[in-house]
Amino acid sequence: MYTQLEQRNSPRPPVNVGTLQKMKADGEKIASLTAYDASFGVLVDEAGVDFVLVGDSLGMVIQGHETTVPVTMEDMLYHTRAVARGVHRPFLVADMPFMSYATKEQALGNAVRLMQDGGAKMVKLESGPSQVGIVEFLAGHDIPVCAHIGLKPQSVHKVGGFRVQGRDHDAAERMKRDAIDLQSAGADVILLECIPAQLGGEITNELDVPVIGIGAGPHVDGQILVLYDILDITTGRKPRFTRNFMQGATGPLEAIRAFVDAVKDRSYPAAEHCF
Ligand code: KIV
Repeated sequence: MYTQLEQRNSPRPPVNVGTLQKMKADGEKIASLTAYDASFGVLVDEAGVDFVLVGDSLGMVIQGHETTVPVTMEDMLYHTRAVARGVHRPFLVADMPFMSYATKEQALGNAVRLMQDGGAKMVKLESGPSQVGIVEFLAGHDIPVCAHIGLKPQSVHKVGGFRVQGRDHDAAERMKRDAIDLQSAGADVILLECIPAQLGGEITNELDVPVIGIGAGPHVDGQILVLYDILDITTGRKPRFTRNFMQGATGPLEAIRAFVDAVKDRSYPAAEHCF
């Protein structure tokens, strides 16, 4: 009955919230990637990725939209179900799309759908002071939550572009406060996007929960990138923090393994990937 307990002593036990906390405590970096379908789910699992996010970035890399704003709950459910069929060891996290968590009740209903129907083990929401109560409500119903701060792509039209966040002192202090408040509200993981490396390190040191960064420098507990960026599938201008792991690899599995190795041995991110 308790399959989780049976698998605990297997050579590749499934990653859970406790595993992520232990990795932070032990100083082992958490290797994280996005995935959008079962085939890549199998590959990221095989390559040793710890944390897999079905990101609403699928709106851009799969659906061809200019932003993540058009992504719907139905889209997220479809892709989360597909990835869930491919991954076994990694911790599977699903993004809550734009306006799917505007109220506490709506957030709870949609988080439950992503877990029960989609197979996600955690939901991620773009967060700030207005979402603290929502995170608390979800956590109070035992929904594991990843709170995403820094650059929040769903706010692109409000902010006026995809820009590095937290560069000035006041903005950096606000972000630290937000991270602490979200942790106190019950967030199990904080995700930092596109912020100065020093601020990434300061927030990570202040928090007890694991911090995963994308363009947040080397001092966070784990690194996440968009799968299509590391496999050089994305065309056009790439963000400074990405690295093409297909260079020198014979195929996607080898490239994903190279990413995992580089995160674990701390050779990624290098100075040129940081702000
Ligand atoms: O949607 C996504 O892929 C994300 C990552 C960029 C972290 O939120």
